[in-house]
Amino acid sequence: MTITLLPRHIAIVMDGNGRWAKNKGRPRIAGHRRGVESVRNIVDFCGQRGIEYLTLFAFSSENWRRPRSEVDFLMELLVSTLENEVQKLHANGVQLKIIGDLDSFGARIQKLVAHAQSLTFDNKKLTLTVAINYGGRWDVAEAARALAAKIASGDLLVADITEQLVAEAMSTAGIPDPDLFIRTGGETRISNFLLWQLAYTELYFTDVLWPDFDEIQLDLALSSFAGRQRRFGRTGEQIL
Ligand code: IPE
Ligand code: IPE
Ligand code: MG
Repeated sequence: MTITLLPRHIAIVMDGNGRWAKNKGRPRIAGHRRGVESVRNIVDFCGQRGIEYLTLFAFSSENWRRPRSEVDFLMELLVSTLENEVQKLHANGVQLKIIGDLDSFGARIQKLVAHAQSLTFDNKKLTLTVAINYGGRWDVAEAARALAAKIASGDLLVADITEQLVAEAMSTAGIPDPDLFIRTGGETRISNFLLWQLAYTELYFTDVLWPDFDEIQLDLALSSFAGRQRRFGRTGEQIL
């Protein structure tokens, strides 16, 4: 398939692991394990395709509400995935960024994250951002807090706050807004993902469950994107 207009940045809500497992009569964690394989494939594929930024929602600030055993499993999976994949990502020129409230994680995860980020910092092929304990409202509140602190210390005037400054105070500073948002698993909601950043993103929803989301499925999303006219408030005639 030749795809003409590629998104620079794709953001994905990877949903449907639990239902994938349930459909197969297996425990939910089997779905999460398979979900990691989809992550691997999609990261490779985005690299091959020349996508510059990929942002994945791996664990939301609301996912703590799940049964303790599932949360524990997801944390272990996160640690083992970081441990096992970082070298390969580095070899493939991927820069890894982790966004989300890391304060609630133990020293082991924080150390792994810091190591992965510094190791891959100069890589240019693809920027892979993984959101863990992330919430869009948390991100906005953090930005507000950071700007308020600058005002309190006299480094910023209230009148000088701009959209640009807010964007630079968010966890995604330096990363362009997503061009394409994908949610697998059939739900048509944002679930507190990148609220500020998705303002003008093209939205794509598919019933395919995340463990089944492969290159063919990504190509379908890419061709849907390529067929859209992004008007950003202008008329269609202005765009043509
Ligand atoms: C997404 O799959 C993975 C995480 C939220 C960690 P789910 O676990 O939400 O799968 P479903 O929605 O129950 O099928
Ligand atoms: C969203 O999926 C979060 C992640 C994919 C990490 P959920 O399955 O938690 O979303 P809701 O709660 O059904 O909206
Ligand atoms: Mg879900």
